[in-house]
Amino acid sequence: MDFKFTVNRTIQLEETSSTQDVAKELAPLCKEDGILIITKKQTAGRGRFERVWESKEGGLYFSLILRPNAKTMPLDLLSIKAGRAVAQTLKDLYNIKSKIKLPNDVLAFDGKEYKKISGILIETSAQADGGLDWIALGIGIDTNNTPSKKLNAASVKQLTKKQADNQELLQKFLQNFAK
Ligand code: BTN
Repeated sequence: MDFKFTVNRTIQLEETSSTQDVAKELAPLCKEDGILIITKKQTAGRGRFERVWESKEGGLYFSLILRPNAKTMPLDLLSIKAGRAVAQTLKDLYNIKSKIKLPNDVLAFDGKEYKKISGILIETSAQADGGLDWIALGIGIDTNNTPSKKLNAASVKQLTKKQADNQELLQKFLQNFAK
């Protein structure tokens, strides 16, 4: 998969329904590539199959609008690439051991078992010729939030016992994703 990635514009929000909603509204209106939408909190964060993605304050929630040049983009590979960048970032910054659960989850090892720490959601436009005009790549990472017990999830703070710096994490992720 060969595509170049840089962030050309960042939209920072306090709260929104879902950064995916913002990305999907914005993408058809502008022709820019590499728009980052980030929020502190989502009121209707979602995962695959319209599952609820808990989005309490403290976590890291963002979407990237990508416009690949390729006529078709292997979305499964894009999801793996994003998952790998999340896993690498958790290792680089916190020495957290994690693995990808295909197609779109990152699981972190808490010393006993692997628990979900991040999820990836890809939504796209469809064009008549079968190509893609834009991709909304949404990523949620449990950082300083405490996920509900029933989710069998873990956050960075729970694993490291320290407050995570969401800005630092995001910047490192973007670096790793661009590699
Ligand atoms: C999943 O686990 O199925 C994917 C979860 C994706 C969550 C992120 S948080 C940022 C973006 N906005 C959303 O509403 N969902 C994605």
